[in-house]
Amino acid sequence: MSNPSLLILAGDGIGPEVMAEVRKIIDWYGAKRDLTFDVEEDLVGGAAYDAHGTPLTDETMEKAQQADAVLLGAVGGPKYDVLDFSVKPERGLLRLRKEMDLFANLRPAQCFDALADFSSLKKDVVAGLDIMIVRELTSGIYFGEPRGIIEEGNQRVGINTQRYTEAEIDRVARSAFELAMKRGKKLCSMEKANVMESGILWREVVTEVAKDYPEVELSHMYADAGAMQLCRWPKQFDVIVTDNLFGDLLSDAAAMLTGSLGMLPSASLGAPMANGRPKALYEPVHGSAPDIAGQAKANPCACILSFAMALRYSFDQGEEATRLEKAVEKVLADGVRTADLLNDEGITPATTAQMGDAVIAALDASL
Ligand code: IPM
Ligand code: MG
Repeated sequence: MSNPSLLILAGDGIGPEVMAEVRKIIDWYGAKRDLTFDVEEDLVGGAAYDAHGTPLTDETMEKAQQADAVLLGAVGGPKYDVLDFSVKPERGLLRLRKEMDLFANLRPAQCFDALADFSSLKKDVVAGLDIMIVRELTSGIYFGEPRGIIEEGNQRVGINTQRYTEAEIDRVARSAFELAMKRGKKLCSMEKANVMESGILWREVVTEVAKDYPEVELSHMYADAGAMQLCRWPKQFDVIVTDNLFGDLLSDAAAMLTGSLGMLPSASLGAPMANGRPKALYEPVHGSAPDIAGQAKANPCACILSFAMALRYSFDQGEEATRLEKAVEKVLADGVRTADLLNDEGITPATTAQMGDAVIAALDASL
């Protein structure tokens, strides 16, 4: 059988820097675990715009459709702020999500013991935190029509439309229930059924899907109250399922609870392909961080942990995923810190490459 294929789209800013560390990890798996991937690299975002005048070429889109999994770094940067909306770097990422139909975005927010002091919340509120946000990713207000800026009388009007079909809610709800079954069997669904019809339908469909998962304890919360509860006592949650825009906001808030955006991975999954693997794209939750790009300061852990999610969800290598996650945990416990994980001015932070090398050493030690 041929090796599984990976398409790497490192993107902009710190994307290529953190991805270089993931390449080391991929090579390690080939050399030490007999797990070899056929890796191809291509451009996305501003990098693709610079080379081709578009944030994602049709050729790259086709490669992404064919790959067993896509690993993405980050897109965007101030240099591209002046571009027309239709060719902004983010449009490349949104096209990948939409055309691969990656409807279930898994965003774990896990607080590493070694970093509990680093959260802006009290240690007992966040220590041991382990929640999973499932964000709907291919519909809702991000893609709904009509949209645009139109002239109305003597002024312009900006329009976006929140829109969800029953089928779209059903499939993301099922992904969330399946995950809840493998975790703490608790699912909280968040919407604004008090003000939005799409929220009323969301609540109805999720309640209907729950009948197929009697073991899972389902609750509902208005998304604003959910945001408040996330900050008040996040450990009440296990899995949260929510729409595209609320999920964007809630997952950033949840990420910050854990102390650093630089630690958090994500998986975006679609329907199974002919080979049984889901369509999949893995990316860190953080952005391209143009302010620190090119300075060897970026924390590669979120991107490394995104590869661990790929091992688990695309390649059925749960044990190897756990090995990699434990290696990252060990490195943190040993006190290795990139700049984003340090408050103390007196300590010299690890560089991006030093962090990656420390993870490799921890992987070696795990054998
Ligand atoms: C995210 C980002 C994206 C989003 C941007 C870059 C388009 O914020 O992945 O959360 O809004 O979905
Ligand atoms: Mg976001």
